[in-house]
Amino acid sequence: MGLVTMKYEMKRAMKGGYAVPAFNFFSFDNLVGIAKAAAEKKSPVIAMATTGGIKVMGEKAVVKMAEGISADYGIDMVLHLDHCTDIELLKRCVDNGFTSVMIDSSKKEFDENVADTCYCVDYAAKYGVTVESELGHVGGKEDDIVVDDMSVMFTQPEKALEFVNLTGIDCLAVAVGTVHGFYKAKPQLDFPRISAINKLIPGCPLVLHGGTGVPYDDFREAIRRGVRKINVGTELKVHGVFDPSVAGYNDPASKQDPRAVSKLVIAKVSSICSEIIDVMGSAGKA
Ligand code: 13P
Repeated sequence: MGLVTMKYEMKRAMKGGYAVPAFNFFSFDNLVGIAKAAAEKKSPVIAMATTGGIKVMGEKAVVKMAEGISADYGIDMVLHLDHCTDIELLKRCVDNGFTSVMIDSSKKEFDENVADTCYCVDYAAKYGVTVESELGHVGGKEDDIVVDDMSVMFTQPEKALEFVNLTGIDCLAVAVGTVHGFYKAKPQLDFPRISAINKLIPGCPLVLHGGTGVPYDDFREAIRRGVRKINVGTELKVHGVFDPSVAGYNDPASKQDPRAVSKLVIAKVSSICSEIIDVMGSAGKA
């Protein structure tokens, strides 16, 4: 129990044919809710800190918090840095004990994306840390990164093969029709594209970003076609501390007692995560 690499969980997920749920967290309460769900469901889990969240919490504190919470709940947890465009921050996270990182140079030209990713793969290798990278653009807003809906560019299967061969990454984030944040219309996932990419790089697990609002049947179909990590963030953000009906801000008891608020937020986050774990097929796989 404690922090494990994403590589370790991805290998098991590929063998078992399920996806490992990856949840963004923004506070201690969020992370406890995630751990509670994983413990109750006996599921592997990836806890993803965002760069914005790290600016508030600090990378050393985030690592200690994840180590402590995973030990308290008796679970294995991957501590992942989500969507990092700042290589210096990524290096600090690796140095301080994150077990997985995502370099996001997807907005740059292909060659620059390759160069940045190779640099991070080399750096992370010293510590055995997992590296995820993105090819194509997943649209929407993620932390401080905004990709205009119009500039969404799907991942080309042959380019994905070239990218993985050149960089040696552990998993690939693909752009196949999802966007970060809430959807303005029902998402249209390009399932044949997922299969085509998976066929060319069967040894490289695929990551689906923008999980909030995607119908559960679409998750199941994406998993059948080779997706092994699914990211969910916005749903936890919105239904966590900011939702007065969840956090009980109108309840006089909550107003005077932060522990009451924490309990309500933890329960809500945990119930959202549990539901998603069931869809991933990862329950009982820890
Ligand atoms: P959502 O916020 O749309 O769930 O996406 C989260 C995500 O992909 C984090 O990388």
